[in-house]
Amino acid sequence: MKKGELIELEITDYAFEGRGISKVDGFVYFIDKSLPGDKVIAKIKKIKQNYAEASVEQILEPSPYRIEKFCNHFNTCGGCKQQDLTYEKQLTYKQEQVEDVFERIGGLSDFEILPIMKSGLTQFYRNKMEFSFADKRFLSIEELGIEGEILDRNFALGFHVPGVYDKVVDIEKCYLQSEKSNDILNFTREFFKSREIKVFSVRSGEGFLKNLVIKQSFHFDDFMVNLVTYGEDPIVEKYFDELSARFPYITTMINNISTRKSSVAIGEYEKVYKGSGFIYESIGKGKFRISANSFFQTNPLQAEALYQAALDFADFKGNEVVYDLYSGAGTIPIFISERVKYIYGFESVEPAIEDAKINIELNKIDNFKPILADLNKSFTPLIQGMGLKKPNVIIADPPRSGMNPKTINNIIELSPAKLVYISCNPATQARDIKLLVEDGYKLIKIRPVDMFPHTYHIENVALLIRE
Ligand SMILES: C[S@@+](CC[C@H](N)C(=O)[O-])C[C@H]1O[C@@H](n2cnc3c(N)ncnc32)[C@H](O)[C@@H]1O
Repeated sequence: MKKGELIELEITDYAFEGRGISKVDGFVYFIDKSLPGDKVIAKIKKIKQNYAEASVEQILEPSPYRIEKFCNHFNTCGGCKQQDLTYEKQLTYKQEQVEDVFERIGGLSDFEILPIMKSGLTQFYRNKMEFSFADKRFLSIEELGIEGEILDRNFALGFHVPGVYDKVVDIEKCYLQSEKSNDILNFTREFFKSREIKVFSVRSGEGFLKNLVIKQSFHFDDFMVNLVTYGEDPIVEKYFDELSARFPYITTMINNISTRKSSVAIGEYEKVYKGSGFIYESIGKGKFRISANSFFQTNPLQAEALYQAALDFADFKGNEVVYDLYSGAGTIPIFISERVKYIYGFESVEPAIEDAKINIELNKIDNFKPILADLNKSFTPLIQGMGLKKPNVIIADPPRSGMNPKTINNIIELSPAKLVYISCNPATQARDIKLLVEDGYKLIKIRPVDMFPHTYHIENVALLIRE
């Protein structure tokens, strides 16, 4: 077999990140943009000892699960990579992938696997979109064919292409957030492009425009536009004036100003041009304030299902002291507050702690205390210093990287009877649970939850008990 060779393959399985798998005499092929059930002619791109990577040259027989894509950016954007697969099959593969990582990475067996919870909405389900400005527009294969005729290749507003750090796909319509958000995206691009405002470049450390972040409430008429820039410029006021006149439904407008030469979409300080600088959202009976830089669940309707799954696993009796690790704006503590005695929340982002304090007042809660803590460091000195009661139950909902080994050791020292582990990355979750199981916890059950239809992201809830 050589690079560039064409080979006929039947796709039998699906790998994480949306690649089809074919096996011939024990040799494995990973084929980009193929689906189980497809018969294809594939072109070999990379050859390793036990496997090869290939791309589809021609579909000879389409999979019965193959459906028409709905987005024009499907071939370039890294977002909804599974949109050509039926939603039911997406769920099947997500479920199988969770089972696979728990067995392969965690070495875990003998626990219950509950069926994945499907998302009520499969399009326009996100309440936050973060777009990047770039001075290099990513060109599709079709555009590259007519390269000489393309004039507007030096300005883009959209999404980074996976693996290409300096180019951005110009997005006209994204199916993940509402039409209102698409209108603002297109207006913003035209406004700055026509005035030749420079995009910030991490490489040169020069330029102005970094990101456009849009947050929209599903339960209230709240709508936030946050422009992230490197430094300040009077053009922002003009932009917000025109934006406000054109889209009066925007309730708050913010300029996040960064002084760091990084690509992070968060400024060190912010200026509010319109409204309060916040939006409100609800999950279950709780009402929450969300600021420009604090984390909030991005599929708010499905977040309720996720929290309910965690609540069901915890099976509170009413007298528990609970630690909620990575507590964000206090949404989980407020969601469970009626069901437990007291909750301490631990979170490292200050604006999220501020939001949590406001959320306590908004919801008239008196049994939750948010605590600023960096969980990359040991948090037992903090607990001892504050004289906090030991927890009966710990809930943890870390970022994709999972928990720091120090946090895992702290949990083992605190030894709560129950641990409910929510994760947006089952691979790191399985890795962490392996350590907890080696130290005397038993994995009882898991429940995958689909928060992000058409993408390969999977949320998973796990229950562990002290043996
Ligand atoms: C997946 S979010 C979960 C937030 C919250 N449980 C929710 O459902 O909205 C992870 C949270 O961990 C916080 N975080 C990230 N790194 C952290 C660290 N080292 N220490 C404490 N919190 C951290 C983030 O700011 C974010 O709020």
